[in-house]
Amino acid sequence: MFEAERVPAGRALQIVQGARAVADAELVSGGAGSPTSELEVERRSADELGRALAGRTQELWRVGLRWTATGPSRARAEGERLRLSERLASLGFRTRVPRYEVAEALAAPAQRAVRRPSGYWQTLTTDGLAALYPFGDETVLEPGGVLVGLSLSDASPVFLDRWSQASHSWGLFGTTGAGKSFAAALTLLRTRWLRPGTELVVLDPLGEYSTLVRALGGAVVRLREPEAGRLNPLDPATTGGDRREKAGRVVTMLRALWPSLKDEEAAALDTAVSRLYDRAGPEPTLGALLDELSRGGAGAGRLPAMLEVFRSGSLRGADGPTTLRVDNPTVAVDLSGLPDEQLPFHLAYVLDWTYHRLSARPGPKLVLLDEAHLLARHEGTTEFLDRAVRHLRHFDAGLLLITQDPDDLLATSSGRSVLRNLSAVAFLRLAEVSEACRTFFGLTTTEAEWLTKARLPTDAGYAESLWRIGAWHLPLAVVASTPEYELLSSALRGEPPPVPGPSPAPGSRGL
Ligand SMILES: Nc1ncnc2c1ncn2[C@@H]1O[C@H](COP(=O)(O)OP(=O)(O)OP(=O)(O)O)[C@@H](O)[C@H]1O
Ligand SMILES: [Mg+2]
Repeated sequence: MFEAERVPAGRALQIVQGARAVADAELVSGGAGSPTSELEVERRSADELGRALAGRTQELWRVGLRWTATGPSRARAEGERLRLSERLASLGFRTRVPRYEVAEALAAPAQRAVRRPSGYWQTLTTDGLAALYPFGDETVLEPGGVLVGLSLSDASPVFLDRWSQASHSWGLFGTTGAGKSFAAALTLLRTRWLRPGTELVVLDPLGEYSTLVRALGGAVVRLREPEAGRLNPLDPATTGGDRREKAGRVVTMLRALWPSLKDEEAAALDTAVSRLYDRAGPEPTLGALLDELSRGGAGAGRLPAMLEVFRSGSLRGADGPTTLRVDNPTVAVDLSGLPDEQLPFHLAYVLDWTYHRLSARPGPKLVLLDEAHLLARHEGTTEFLDRAVRHLRHFDAGLLLITQDPDDLLATSSGRSVLRNLSAVAFLRLAEVSEACRTFFGLTTTEAEWLTKARLPTDAGYAESLWRIGAWHLPLAVVASTPEYELLSSALRGEPPPVPGPSPAPGSRGL
């Protein structure tokens, strides 16, 4: 709540003259504690303010501000109040908790006679009062950040700078059609405009972003077309040559491909992979792993038959050394057209490749991972994701993680670790908000209910969302400008971006 009362002109002059008289008296007495230069400045500014009051260019105001922290429990409300006080202190306010004066603090504003707690009223000049408008919150207006949305309460723009946050990674959640892919693509575009040197990697299970990435001058790698070049899932270069580390990751990827492996089969696979990596020699391949398994024999069960898929079946494109080289700073890996049950496997080694690429290239980098639930299906691949999110910032890189339901990640400890390491999380419309989700993100019941009714872009022309950035919960509209909308809505449908038309001829009837 905000209250301001004009101090009558005569009284205002008295206050200023009083301040000048105090400064004069202290100057004469040699200044009780304050240096003479400060007292002189005080006297001069009292003179200037006195002239401004007399000339009616300034007035004095009694101003009071009240913030009320609320929460579902006393502890939560106290926590909220503490964070609020810290935030206000960082903005230069001195706050006071009105203990034993709550009735006075909460009384509705009435004409003049309201008694407020001591220390509530402050005297400000007209300029000082004006500086309080609008109530901009610099903690979310991060200079140099991208526009993420307009506040749903007052349309003020909110900018966020991922590079100034401890983790550069964000999450986007929402039901189908809520506008996740669009919001992510908008973030890529705006990031590129602000920092043209930012490298982009798009991990694209549905092949939605190819047209956009080409429009940005980037390269598209289609995994289903091995002619484009192969990424060898077993390439030890992705762990910087650490063969033991790579052997562990290979077992995880293969277990994601065959979740029904029996313990003895998994053990035989593990042994064969270790033997393959222990042996110095050429780059390990899936075909070589199959040979290794055939040699080992015992316990392998169905494994040799399963691995045959890499030699003569649908995954034969993945068998062989890495031949793909992408120097383009913008790249999309398109996984569309691959069987759904193979996607976690492909995504796991592509993430491995991406991680290595990011660690090896200088400068800011942004990775977009859509349909992240594919990696969250297995504990092992969720650990990959967790490691990536925890370490990316060391390479000046951030992740934009997209999935429909936060519960996909809340189910495992590495999934929760992923979520904890996202510096900003945006919820678009959710089909439902589980109790686990509400508790984990500290959403109120009202926020949770609102999220199931948030307006969809197909109805509103923008996406309603709730952003959680540190302790702040901001309801924002994700809005695109007309050129952004025209580019993105056609590119995400796979249509070529519109060519800007000629300006209307003079005298023609434009809008
Ligand atoms: N902020 C927005 N402003 C205008 N139109 C939007 C906005 N967000 C999304 N749209 C439009 O709404 C439709 C659905 O958006 P989008 O494909 O991004 O949804 P999604 O959440 O990614 O869904 P899915 O889970 O099915 O992938 C698209 O046609 C898109 O162009
Ligand atoms: Mg999508």
